[in-house]
Amino acid sequence: MTSKKRFAVIAGARPNFMKIAPIMKAMERYPEIDLSLIHTGQHYDKNLSDVFFHELGIRKPDVALGVGSGSHAKQTADVMVAIESLLVEAQQNGQAFTAVIVVGDVNSTMAAALAASKLHIPVVHVEAGLRSRDRSMPEEINRLVTDSISDLLLCSEPAGVENLLAEGHPQQNVHLVGNVMIDTLLSEVARAKEQKTLEEFGLEPKNYGVVTLHRPGNVDQRDTLEAILQVLSRVSTQLPIIFPVHPRTQSRINEFGLQDILGNSTGCRMVEPLGYLDCLCLTSQAKVVVTDSGGLQEETTALGVPCLTLRPNTERPITCIEGTGTLIGSSADLLENKLEEVLSGKYKIGGCPMLWDGRAAERIVSLISKVFR
Ligand code: UD1
Repeated sequence: MTSKKRFAVIAGARPNFMKIAPIMKAMERYPEIDLSLIHTGQHYDKNLSDVFFHELGIRKPDVALGVGSGSHAKQTADVMVAIESLLVEAQQNGQAFTAVIVVGDVNSTMAAALAASKLHIPVVHVEAGLRSRDRSMPEEINRLVTDSISDLLLCSEPAGVENLLAEGHPQQNVHLVGNVMIDTLLSEVARAKEQKTLEEFGLEPKNYGVVTLHRPGNVDQRDTLEAILQVLSRVSTQLPIIFPVHPRTQSRINEFGLQDILGNSTGCRMVEPLGYLDCLCLTSQAKVVVTDSGGLQEETTALGVPCLTLRPNTERPITCIEGTGTLIGSSADLLENKLEEVLSGKYKIGGCPMLWDGRAAERIVSLISKVFR
């Protein structure tokens, strides 16, 4: 009898959950694989965490570390300490992990990779190699550190492979596998469209915009946030807007006293963060998405929905080169011009990138099972 291979899958924050769901499902088909799901607790609100587990049928975490919010150093350190003790305990019980699987670029991703690699446990990074080349983004630091200590680097787009090879990673460790988040999107989009979300918010298909905003670079400075909210208020006179507000953004709006800018606009509706199905129901039928989210840049490309990205750069260049994305930076003029193109039907048509086909998780697990024999 062959002994079981033990993998720990780490998830911490909202964008991780739609990435682990298809990987876990694919792993269940391998009887020789024993899987532990570890939730760091970086996100803990029901609508940032529990709702995704429920809607995507992700089983209850085997271990919930309950780390919570904090400064970058504190959050990273707390996850590292908690994961280290869990990995050491497993080693001492004769249940050592074969490898640790991390996804994306949040603080939990980097912290788990660091803890595992210092214990000489191989690290698999899903969504490796993405680079914005903007080190003021916390995620860019997380990506650089995680990739530099990962043993198996699995990329969602060709730029990821090119970046990793240019950084000197051996070719045999780097693989283009496709996009696991799009696996989830493709398997859920029909069910999402059956939700009553549009009716609930009084919206008509293809006649509204979805806005999301949470990057520190956009929301943590009063002037920047105020300028964006002013543009959105103007835009909402042409097109109804639905704006699910991230807790970070809501607390900055309150702190800076900017509640009235959108509060007084009749065309813009600010709502609590949405679950996966409600969000996909809205984005899949939107006229346009205006966002600073990495995940939404990719999802809109897969859906063929125009995406005006409120960032000066992106680590996901394929969304602009092949997909429906355009980088707007913080230019109100450009945002209004591009919006005009969308409304007049002149905006570019995008295509779906190679291997964003709903089978990335299958490729990942097949590869993992061969690498870790
Ligand atoms: C984190 C990720 C970011 C990802 C985003 C998706 C990092 C560095 N950032 O950003 O890459 O795009 O998640 O949402 O890992 N809070 C709550 N409830 C929660 C969690 C957080 O209210 O369940 C509030 C807290 O006040 C917290 C703040 O949101 O301080 C920020 O949370 P944090 O996890 O540090 O970063 P995000 O901005 O959510």
